Amino acid sequence: MTSFKQDVITGLSADAKYLSSRYFYDEIGDQIFQEIMAMPDYYLTRAEEEIFHLRKEEIYKALNFSCPFKLVELGAGDGLKTKILLRSFLEQKADFQYLPIDISSHVLAELSESLAQELPQLEVEPMAKEYFEALEQLQKISGEPKLVLFLGSNIGNFPQGKASGFLNSLAAKLQTGDKLLLGVDLKKEPAKILKAYSDKTGITARFNLNILSRINRELGANFDLQSFDHYASYNPQSGECRSYLICRKAQEVHLEGVAQNIHFEEFESIHTEISKKYSPSELDRLAAETGFKVIEKFYDSQKQFSDVLLEKR
Ligand code: AVJ
Repeated sequence: MTSFKQDVITGLSADAKYLSSRYFYDEIGDQIFQEIMAMPDYYLTRAEEEIFHLRKEEIYKALNFSCPFKLVELGAGDGLKTKILLRSFLEQKADFQYLPIDISSHVLAELSESLAQELPQLEVEPMAKEYFEALEQLQKISGEPKLVLFLGSNIGNFPQGKASGFLNSLAAKLQTGDKLLLGVDLKKEPAKILKAYSDKTGITARFNLNILSRINRELGANFDLQSFDHYASYNPQSGECRSYLICRKAQEVHLEGVAQNIHFEEFESIHTEISKKYSPSELDRLAAETGFKVIEKFYDSQKQFSDVLLEKR
């Protein structure tokens, strides 16, 4: 049995049903996420872009790397924001190799192709792997310092407490003096956050529902998508924006090769994603409990988002 199938069965058999947001990103999900990043309500992308445009010189100087280094990006995606930094670092005569890591080889192929066009002088070494597998490999071969990029509020997908576990394992793969540029969305007016995760145009709803169509496509299930609604809620204390799929009518869902049907009651929900928002002081605490020290927090002009430059202690 694939781990996807196993995870779906486990999540949908739980009392409080859940599915992992990592399964959003098949080819269709990747495309819908591009649409999300282009919507005005999804302020995160514009805010991080602004930080890079305004602060790219300072970000490079703050790295304080004098020798060749490796720029490793976790979950590279389309690289649109990263290219702002890549271009600027090259202009500042940085000597580095770019290693985008992504589980999707399809995404990496497109990224490499566009980089070859736009920044032909850049040395690119894509790695189609899970983050930690790739980092383990790098740990063995590289004597050069590293800058790791983990952008776009991807850290927000970890619930309270799990983010520090992730950063601790990441720190364990780095050498003292290596850097991490971490993109995090900040706590702000709840209404603004909710709008970003439940847009009127229904793009986010399509993104969330795609996880069920993916289960239909890949696991031969028979979810009736018409009967599920997207619902997002924000808790201003934990900073967690949670997304759910709400089942409007009782139904039995069958998975190919699985004898036991999954039963849904009317208004039962599936929890599908956490997008956690941080306050600046929470970021300091996160760094302190994970082997990193904060070098500088970079903000956009409206202080909606922060890219935090961290150094492995
Ligand atoms: C890609 C995980 C950063 O949580 O903001 C966008 C994904 N989900 N809209 C986020 C997402 C709904 C996004 N991350």
